[in-house]
Formats: sequence, structure tokens, C-alpha cells
Amino acid sequence: MASFGENIFLCLIVSIFVTSGLIIFILSVSISVKTSQKTVDSNDKHPIGNLGEDAVLSCNYLTSTTQMVLASRVSITWEKEGLSEVVYQYDKGTVQLTGQSPRFKDRTQLFLDAIGKGNASLLVRTVRLSDEGVYYCSVSAPSGTGTAVVNFRVAAYSAPTFQLTNSTLTASALKWFPKPSVSWLDANGNIVNTSDTEFFSNSIGINQLMSSLQPIKRFEIYTCIIQNQLVKAVSTATVTDNSISSRTFFSFTTSAASPILQIRWHFLASTASFSVFVYQLT
Ligand SMILES: *[C@@H]1O[C@H](CO)[C@@H](O)[C@H](O)[C@H]1NC(C)=O
Ligand SMILES: *[C@@H]1O[C@H](CO)[C@@H](O)[C@H](O)[C@H]1NC(C)=O
Ligand SMILES: *[C@@H]1O[C@H](CO)[C@@H](O)[C@H](O)[C@H]1NC(C)=O
Repeated sequence: MASFGENIFLCLIVSIFVTSGLIIFILSVSISVKTSQKTVDSNDKHPIGNLGEDAVLSCNYLTSTTQMVLASRVSITWEKEGLSEVVYQYDKGTVQLTGQSPRFKDRTQLFLDAIGKGNASLLVRTVRLSDEGVYYCSVSAPSGTGTAVVNFRVAAYSAPTFQLTNSTLTASALKWFPKPSVSWLDANGNIVNTSDTEFFSNSIGINQLMSSLQPIKRFEIYTCIIQNQLVKAVSTATVTDNSISSRTFFSFTTSAASPILQIRWHFLASTASFSVFVYQLT
């Protein structure tokens, strides 16, 4: 005959197994939901365009991995929130632009050769500030129909060029929007606060900027960071005796919520129910 204490112990062991099974189940469900493929989707739901340059709004639809879809069986419509006319339309193998908004006339196209491979991405030429907004890519294909949402934001950014005059290092950049902040670091990564930045903005608010740092040391590396809420440019300038070499890396803000966080949240929720369960049994 098992004692009362042994029964409690057994109960606990069983409940631990049951709840850990539950945790694994909840975790696997939340992971599989996150990775299941949609019929129509975008690889980049928050792209950032550079004013005056071309941008690709990404959209793709499911195809069989072994064969191409006949483009004549695919229809693709790109629309923009707040715009009654379409941005671009492709209807069962033919480009159909009678209902196109004049704002996008001669500035947009699909990658026609790639449509059969599931590519419904839109190329937008010479991006304007007014192109910013929410876009809908609707696809009707043999594999099904669906709509992907792309939130397109427009910034202006450019790499600075560096100049050395006496003991002053100057970084000049031609176009930044929205207005950025500029900071400098020395070779040890410490902020150098002896800089002065001037902005010259044009009629539509695009900023040219010039930031001077002094005094500077020869044979030293300085980092200039130009940053707004969308784009960050990190430039390292290596000062030699009488010349400077520099390189710039751009990084972009993404506002998509991290799926890792969502999985963690599920995990926390299930461990919480686990402890409540044990507490009630004992
Ligand atoms: C579609 O094709 C274009 C041109 O080759 C490419 O730049 C883009 O990344 C492709 N998009 C997708 C979603 O495959
Ligand atoms: C640089 O230094 C020299 C000599 O010290 C001076 O004559 C010249 O005006 C300085 N140039 C600038 C741009 O400050
Ligand atoms: C710059 O930094 C130094 C020391 O790090 C400090 O004493 C000084 O007040 C700062 N100057 C400004 C303008 O912030």
C-alpha cells in the first residue's frame, strides 16, 4: 500500500509530465503558426526607399517547386491606400494600365520574366516623398488568391564625404530626410563633443549637412554617425598625414514585431499555468 505522501509525489510527477507535454505542444503550435507559408506574402513588409532612386516593393506567391506557373493564369494588382486608381495591374498575362493612377504612370513595372516563378514584386522608379504609404499586392493564381501588405516609407540618405583642413575634419552629406542628428566617436568609441553641425534645407525640407570636428589628431580613426528615425549611416574616416579614407555602412529601421518575442510570451504563459497547476494539487 502506497503511503499518502507517495501518492502526492506520484501526482506531482504525473502533473509535471502532463504540463511539460502541454508546454511543448503550445510552443510547437505557436512556432508552426509563425512559419506556415501564406499564399501571397512579402519578404520585406517595411521597406525604406531613398528619394530619387528606384525601389522594389517585394511580393511573392506560392508556386509548385517543380514547375513554373503559366503567366496567363496569374493576375496581379498593386493598390495604394487612399488611392482609388490602381498602381499597377497585370491581368492573366497582359499588362492592364487603363485604370492606373497618373502618379505612377511610366514609373512602375513588374518583373515580367519572373512572374511565373512566383515573383509579383513592383519596381518603383525615382521614388518621391508622396510614394510613402501602405500598398496592397493582390494575386490570383492557380495556387490560390491572397493579398500582401507592404508599408513603404521614404527617406533621403547619402554617404558623407570627408575633408581635412588644418586640424578640422569636415563631413558633408548632400541629402538627408527627415532631418538627422550627427554625432562623432573617437577610435575608442567615446563621444567627441567638439563638433559643430550646420544644416541647409531646401524648399521641400531635404537637408544638406556639414559637420566639423576639431581639433583632430593625425593617424587616428573617427566615426561619424548620421541618423534619423529610418536610416543610420555609420562612417569611419581614417586620417593619415594629409589624406582621409572613409567607408560608410547604412542600416535601416524595421518596425516588424519580432516572432521570437511572441514565442517567448507563449512560453511564459504556459509556465505560469504550470505553477498554478502544481500549487492546486499540493
Ligand atoms: C523579383 O525579381 C526581382 C528582379 O529579379 C528581384 O529584385 C526581387 O527581389 C524578386 N522578388 C521576389 C519576392 O522574389
Ligand atoms: C590653416 O593653417 C594655416 C597656418 O597655420 C593658416 O594660414 C590657414 O589660414 C589655415 N586654414 C584654415 C582654412 O583655417
Ligand atoms: C564636452 O565634454 C567635456 C568632458 O568630456 C565636458 O567637460 C564639456 O563640458 C563638454 N562640452 C559640451 C559642450 O558638452
